[in-house]
Amino acid sequence: MENIAIVTGAGNGIGEATAKRFAADGIRVAVVDIDETRAAKVAGEITEAGGQALAVRCDVSKAEQVETCIAKVEETWGTPTILVNNAGIGGPFHRLDEVSESEWDMIFGINVKSVYLFCRNLLPKMKEIGYGRIVNTASIQGLYGSPGSSTYVATKHAMIGYTRNIAAEWGRYGITCNAVCPGYVQTAMGVQEDKVDDYMRRVLEKTPTKSVATPQELAAMNAFLVEQGYINGGVYVMDGGITAHVGIMEV
Ligand SMILES: NC(=O)c1ccc[n+]([C@@H]2O[C@H](COP(=O)([O-])OP(=O)(O)OC[C@H]3O[C@@H](n4cnc5c(N)ncnc54)[C@H](O)[C@@H]3O)[C@@H](O)[C@H]2O)c1
Repeated sequence: MENIAIVTGAGNGIGEATAKRFAADGIRVAVVDIDETRAAKVAGEITEAGGQALAVRCDVSKAEQVETCIAKVEETWGTPTILVNNAGIGGPFHRLDEVSESEWDMIFGINVKSVYLFCRNLLPKMKEIGYGRIVNTASIQGLYGSPGSSTYVATKHAMIGYTRNIAAEWGRYGITCNAVCPGYVQTAMGVQEDKVDDYMRRVLEKTPTKSVATPQELAAMNAFLVEQGYINGGVYVMDGGITAHVGIMEV
């Protein structure tokens, strides 16, 4: 089967690396992002390198835009067989009582509602062709708490629950759904030196490998997961060992 992928948030970071990796593997890729310029740039680079790409501007939290985005991909290539729900935002760092209702709604809209919007449209179509691969970019903050990021943490926990439910509900139709939980990745979101004092030192102190991941390492995991048929409902931590380390000693 010729694969057709939608990668959201593919204008930068993990999504960009995933779109480029998929294209290098011969998959046609819709580079979906709210930032039209970045989407066009990434799609252009893929095409130049000999791959097939389509840039689509879309705010993934808006139902109408998601419908239009999927229709564009279908008109161009046919039914998408791969969906990577990767677009996400962190929001400002502050305490729970300082989070406004509009901030809560915005972060949930982009990080969680978007997954529902894409899946409610695509799952029945994947069912019809008897095949589908969904990968959700969650976070280790979908597994544990992180002071200053309560809303983000809630969205990523929701995403992991939703991943398992999609796996359980749609696995019988040849559709798999898995989540990847990065720790810190070398992207605009992963490296926030401008927002937090001494950011990188804090990250490296927490990370047993004393490194951050590259977006390409996350892309390799996404490429692996879309090649598998029996891995379904999995939650894969890629964090250099951050969540493995609960000790108070270094030896
Ligand atoms: N970088 C990290 O350290 C890290 C760690 C854990 C999880 N993640 C998750 O990985 C995913 C990708 O993060 P990244 O680090 O590559 O971030 P990034 O900021 O480099 O890229 C995110 C992309 O999403 C796009 N986007 C934002 N809002 C959008 C919207 N409403 N509609 C469509 N596109 C939108 C942005 O324009 C951007 O191109 C996110 O879901 C994030 O939560 C990142």
